[in-house]
This record gives sequence, C-alpha cells and structure tokens, in this order.
Amino acid sequence: MIAKISFVAILSLLHILPTSLVLYAKATSRGRDTLELSIGIGSGSGGSGSSKDCGDELLGNADQSQCSQEKIPLLGPIIQAPLLSPVVQAPIVQGLLNFIDQRLALVYPVIQLFKSAITSDPLGITNSWVGGDICKYKGFYCDSPPDNKSATALASIDFNGFGLSAPSLDGFLDQLPDIALFHANSNNFAGTISPNIAKLRYLYELDLSNNKLSGPFPTVVLGMTDLIFLDLRFNSFSGAVPAQIFTQDLYVLFLNNNAFDQTLPDNLGNTHVLYLTLANNKFTGPIPRSIAGAPSTLTEVLFLNNRFSGCLPYEIGLLDETVVLDAGNNQLTGPLPLSLFCLEKVEQLNLGGNLFYGMVPEPICWLGLNRNLVNLSLSDNYFQYVGPWCRALIEKGILNVRNNCIPDLPFQRPVADCAHFFAQPRPCPRMWSYSYVPCRNAHLDPLVPGIAPSP
Ligand SMILES: *[C@@H]1O[C@H](CO)[C@@H](O)[C@H](O)[C@H]1NC(C)=O
Ligand SMILES: *[C@@H]1O[C@H](CO)[C@@H](O)[C@H](O)[C@H]1NC(C)=O
Repeated sequence: MIAKISFVAILSLLHILPTSLVLYAKATSRGRDTLELSIGIGSGSGGSGSSKDCGDELLGNADQSQCSQEKIPLLGPIIQAPLLSPVVQAPIVQGLLNFIDQRLALVYPVIQLFKSAITSDPLGITNSWVGGDICKYKGFYCDSPPDNKSATALASIDFNGFGLSAPSLDGFLDQLPDIALFHANSNNFAGTISPNIAKLRYLYELDLSNNKLSGPFPTVVLGMTDLIFLDLRFNSFSGAVPAQIFTQDLYVLFLNNNAFDQTLPDNLGNTHVLYLTLANNKFTGPIPRSIAGAPSTLTEVLFLNNRFSGCLPYEIGLLDETVVLDAGNNQLTGPLPLSLFCLEKVEQLNLGGNLFYGMVPEPICWLGLNRNLVNLSLSDNYFQYVGPWCRALIEKGILNVRNNCIPDLPFQRPVADCAHFFAQPRPCPRMWSYSYVPCRNAHLDPLVPGIAPSP
C-alpha cells in the first residue's frame, strides 16, 4: 500500500504535473494548435528507471526454464544459476558474456530476438544492444526489482522517439518479467497487443502512443491492477473501449487518434483520469450525463472530431476544474446549456462545427470578459443571436461566430442554408435544464443577469 502511494507520487511528479504545466502555459500563451500538438505527440519521458516501488512479488519460474532452453552463452562469477552448464559452447566470436545478475541473463535472449526482428533503426539505437551489460543498452534501464533489493533487473524501457520498426512486440514486451515502465512513443511497432502481458505484474506505465498497432482495445489491461498509465494514442485500435476501463484506477488514459467506434458507456464519469482524450475517433451517440461524476481533477476534456450527436447535457457544466473543453466537429445540437457558465477555469472552449442553434448565452461570454476564457470557438453552427457581452468578445478576437445564422454579422451562412436547417425541429429533452445553473461557485450568480432560478 505504502509502495503504491509512493510510486503514484513519483508518477505525478515525473509526468502529470509537468504535462499539465506545459499544457497550461501553452494554452495561455500560444493557443490551441500548440496545445493539441503537445497532447498529440506525447510527453511521457519516464523510463529513467524508477521501478523500486511498483510491486511486491517475485515471478514464478516459467521464464527461467524457458531461458535455459536457449543456447545463449551465459557465464560469470556473479551468476549462480544451477541450470547453466559451466561448460558453455559459446561461439568464439561472441565471447563469453558476463551478466551482473541472473535476471539480466534471462532477458538477454529476449532482447536479441527482438533486435533481429527490427526492420528499421534510423538512429542506430540497436548498435548499442550488444554484450552482457544490458543496463547500458540505449533505451534500457536497470533497477532493483521489488522482490529483491539486492538484485538488478531490467526495470524500464524508454524507446520514445527512436523510430524503430518491428512487425510486433509479441515475444518481447511480454517476456520481460521485471518491467515496470514501457514507453514506446513514436516508433513503428505494428501488430496487436499480446494477452501475455497480463503476467507482467510490475508493469504500471504502458505508453504505446504513435505506433502502428491495431486490433481491438487490448482488454488484457483490464486485469492489470497495478497499471496506472495507459497511452494508446495515435494507433489504429478499433472497435469498442470496454466500459470497465473507466472504473479502473488509471491516472492517465489516452485514447485519441484511433478508430474506436462505440457510444460512450454510462460509467464514463467514474474515471479517475486527469485528461479525457477521446478526440479523433469514431465515437457516436450522446455525451453521457454521467460525465458529471468525473473527478474535480479532470482538467482537459477532448471530444473533438468524432460523431457525437444529441444535445449537450447541462451536467457538462459541473466539470468545474476543466481548462480545455473541446467538442468541436461533431453533430451535437440544441441550445447551449447555461451551465457552461460554471466552467470558471475554462480557457479554451471549442464547440465549433456542430449543429448548435439559438442564442449564445451571455453568461458564457462573461467568462471571457471576467475570467480565464481566451478562445471561445462557436463557428460553423446555426446560432441566431448574440448579446452585447458576446459582441464585446467578438471585438476582442476571443469569440468566433463565423458561419452561423446571425443576421447582422458578417461572414454568416446563406439565408437559404439557415432556413433549411430550421425547417427541421431539433428539440432537446429536459428543456428546463438549459437555463439551469448548477454552479458550485454560487458567488458568481448575482453578477450575471438572466439566470433562471434552479428547478
Ligand atoms: C481557438 O480555437 C479554435 C478551435 O480549437 C482554433 O482553431 C483556433 O486556432 C484557436 N484560436 C487561437 C487564437 O488560439
Ligand atoms: C537476490 O538477488 C541476489 C543478486 O542476484 C541473489 O544473489 C540473491 O540470492 C537473491 N535473493 C533471493 C532471496 O532470491
């Protein structure tokens, strides 16, 4: 228990806080594009090998017996391996390898097999993967494993940005029994994720972002209770994301830029993650009301570029720590719920490229005049009215309402397009909820005119 808490603390220091600071800084200073980029490329830079606190049990003997079948020359005064014959038939060319620990001897053949499967290595990384000192291989980090403080094991791999190509990670990742962190951002690893990674009992960070992985969501992770960081961004995973993942104790779950294509499960709001990144997939259906249950730590909510439909539930306004809310380029409709006014910390609010209509609520524009909102993007919708505060925001370049149906503003849709849109009724359920302001920041209420009393 203590062990888990302490590595969570390490994780938040190493990853979460810097990421959020970077995002925060970029959101305020350089705008949306930079922000998306930093989310997109991945910030995981761990791998410096902090495996000390990530588990508490020794693996079984399965892998050792497997290793003994490999005819890899293993010899060294430090290895007390009864399995190994002292008379090793080592190829003279390769010489006799010394391993500082039996555990490293066990993963040596696994690494060499993977090396031989690598089809491209533009940076020449694998040139360093020779000899018995695995801890000095580029991308590999050793540390004492949780079950034996005097042993040395392969604790962490950081291949971020190496550009390695391999048809699969099978037989590699799943054969590294002591691995705690696996970071492989921006390589060209293909194939699917093996269910065999289930036996990696120390694994708590898995970053597979920006590769060529495919197949269904790797459901094997559902049983991996120590896992707290799962980054699948920028791959070709498809099908459904199992609902259980949102109840799992993950701090980081990045799903954006894949081909996931289901409606969102109702337990979405049970998630513990700091960033809800569903962008650039094929999600459909409504944004669930249960989003209200999301923890107050949720700072970034990215729904953009999917196929979400239906009306925005007022519960979205309960995300009162959210700094970036982006639901652009979907098929969402209805008026905007006044509850968005409760997003007191929001800096970037993008609802452009949808089917929203009605009046842009003045209290939302108030956030741009008096709070943190620096980019309110409502372009390419069917809004018909904007009041004085919103007009002030347009003047300041904060609010973009191009390509709507606002009669006295420039750059609007042709009248015929608007007429065509409004010919079809698009009612929302629970109409009362659109004027409901559930703010926990109740002190704001008297500042804003036109807020209806709560039901
Ligand atoms: C505001 O947000 C929109 C939508 O995300 C983006 O396209 C635009 O570049 C942003 N503008 C600024 C000034 O950051
Ligand atoms: C711990 O690791 C050391 C170094 O590999 C080894 O000599 C020792 O036998 C191990 N202890 C146990 C209890 O396995």
